[in-house]
Amino acid sequence: MNVKGKVILLMLVVSTVVFVFWEYINSSEGSFLWIYQSKNPEVGDSSSQKGWWFPNWFDNGTHSYQEEEEEDIEKGREKEQTKVNNIKELSLQDWFNPKNRPGVVTVTRWNAPVVWEGTYNRAILEKYYAKRKITVGLTVFAVGRYIEHYLEEFLTSANTYFMVGHKVIFYIMMDDVSRMPSIELDPLRSFKVFEIKSEKRWQDISMMRMKTIGEHILAHIQHEVDFLFCMDVDQIFQDNFGVETLGQSVAQLQAWWYKADPYEFTYERREESAAYIPFGQGDFYYHAAIFGGTPIQVLNLTQECFKGILQDKENDIEAEWHDESHLNKYFFLNKPTKILSPEYCWDYHIGMPTDIKIVKIAWQTKEYNLVRNNV
Ligand SMILES: *[C@@H]1O[C@H](CO)[C@@H](O)[C@H](O)[C@H]1NC(C)=O
Ligand SMILES: *[C@@H]1O[C@H](CO)[C@@H](O)[C@H](O)[C@H]1NC(C)=O
Repeated sequence: MNVKGKVILLMLVVSTVVFVFWEYINSSEGSFLWIYQSKNPEVGDSSSQKGWWFPNWFDNGTHSYQEEEEEDIEKGREKEQTKVNNIKELSLQDWFNPKNRPGVVTVTRWNAPVVWEGTYNRAILEKYYAKRKITVGLTVFAVGRYIEHYLEEFLTSANTYFMVGHKVIFYIMMDDVSRMPSIELDPLRSFKVFEIKSEKRWQDISMMRMKTIGEHILAHIQHEVDFLFCMDVDQIFQDNFGVETLGQSVAQLQAWWYKADPYEFTYERREESAAYIPFGQGDFYYHAAIFGGTPIQVLNLTQECFKGILQDKENDIEAEWHDESHLNKYFFLNKPTKILSPEYCWDYHIGMPTDIKIVKIAWQTKEYNLVRNNV
């Protein structure tokens, strides 16, 4: 290279350095902060901020202006959206194989799956839901002595087994929020605690639950989660309760009744009650300890059940199994799109029949004399 060439090269290098430096001086702290925040909204100290943009700048050699960055983010969002839209919808046979569990009911008359251990392919479902970046909510009520007897174990076991690998929000409704046990949750889990009015009778607590859940879905839950489960607190997770349980409208088979004839079910049989189901009708006996679905479906369920409860109060009648009777009436009229086998809510007092391969949730010992004011 001759001298002229070297000079030109040097001038190029110098002008590049000057340009880069000038850009640096001119860029306001605010714009860097903005760029930084748009990338990572969670972390806020300025040292990590520099750590982010310095290497990027020099690796790249091009400085991106705020506007370009904004455009990029917009494009990124669009891409993300098309990606979500392009995720192939799963059909039932992609993940569900009812033949793996002969001997138990795995498909309903209306073709809804009854999810038993062995019938589902969790890997395929996980792949599908991971792309959708879902958040699952879980409501639980603990009032009076239910708090110290059950809440901590329920939450710590749910932290371990409920929707592992997915974002979860626990909605904890208590009559005394100061008694919330301190528990350490995994990073993907968070909780929100709400104070509720305590009712004198446990039947009323249980029935008012429907009203409270509905109000919270309307106020915020519908914007926060993709799926919602509502569970009783006096139970404990023992194994993975995963994405195979997600659906539009999900009902739980009651462990004591899953093999019984519909004639024997303890449905409300008095015509005067809104929960009335005539003998000879009905599909399954569902357990109010677990129900779920999309927030909108759960909203409809809770509103309809509460309507029935109010109607009964006006007529001075109380359904035999309170909110559970109304839940059974709802699912009788609006068939659930997915049903969970009793493996998802097992009572060991029944023993361990071979139908029960893995217990996902177990009933806790019901110490009614201790936790209920009126038995
Ligand atoms: C260069 O910077 C742009 C904008 O910040 C970024 O999108 C791109 O991935 C970077 N390229 C490299 C090779 O780092
Ligand atoms: C809500 O419940 C009512 C009463 O059971 C039913 O007629 C209606 O179809 C339900 N709506 C949805 C969206 O499921």
